[in-house]
Amino acid sequence: MSLLTVKNVVAGYGDGPAILNGASVDVQPGKVHCIIGPNGAGKSTLLKAICGMLKIRSGEVTFKGESLKGLRPDQVLRKGICFVPQERALFPKMTVRENLRMGGFSMTDKRLLEKRIDEIEERFPILKERRDQHAGTMSGGQQQTLSMARTMILRPEIVMLDEPSLGLAPKIVQEIFDIIRVMAADGITILIVEQNALMGLRCADWGVVLDLGRTLFEGPAEEVLADPRIREAYLGAKKAA
Ligand SMILES: Nc1ncnc2c1ncn2[C@@H]1O[C@H](COP(=O)(O)OP(=O)(O)OP(=O)(O)O)[C@@H](O)[C@H]1O
Ligand SMILES: [Mg+2]
Repeated sequence: MSLLTVKNVVAGYGDGPAILNGASVDVQPGKVHCIIGPNGAGKSTLLKAICGMLKIRSGEVTFKGESLKGLRPDQVLRKGICFVPQERALFPKMTVRENLRMGGFSMTDKRLLEKRIDEIEERFPILKERRDQHAGTMSGGQQQTLSMARTMILRPEIVMLDEPSLGLAPKIVQEIFDIIRVMAADGITILIVEQNALMGLRCADWGVVLDLGRTLFEGPAEEVLADPRIREAYLGAKKAA
């Protein structure tokens, strides 16, 4: 059973040309999904279309059988779909703890909010250790950890991450993928866009190849990794002699 279905979506910016031209993804509950594709393929645009930042011109985005078309980003968030953009969108001059609080600013029960922040600090000791530090002064990996942990305050069903490993050292990249698996083990469904296609697919259950705004292939991540044409075109593998 799908949790979220993206089917033949056509979308673009304002009155501009269509950037997505038949994008489809089958999102299954509790799994990690990785979207790969070349620069400019429309990967970030697809996440923006799902979360309500772009108008969907045709096609369907259905969450638990209900259309998300026409909903604003705050309404999509309220349904349980959280988006972490590439820029991470932290408040650099606020402390780590304050950033976590901002993740739950819409919660009216502030005691519950503090309890959830405490739980997250237990989960991610680095955030507890750094709770009074300004977010902008932390390392890239720590900031990414904070961005991801912050989504968990609202107990989302789906978390979408745009290029979570961008600009991070290889050792830290592995830590970020480990956190993604921890979130999935917690029952959160994950949709990531990854420039680092090999690592992204190895961490994922499901792979999606997007090019020219269109889904060319989707299936189990191991099938994407094993497909010789996809390897050659999108994973930087050499053609067999
Ligand atoms: N705000 C915007 N306004 C107009 N066009 C945009 C905007 N953002 C992106 N585009 C265009 O949409 C196309 C797809 O961009 P998108 O950022 O979705 O690609 P991507 O697959 O995420 O690429 P990358 O790997 O570089 O992040 C590009 O041609 C880009 O110029
Ligand atoms: Mg992008």
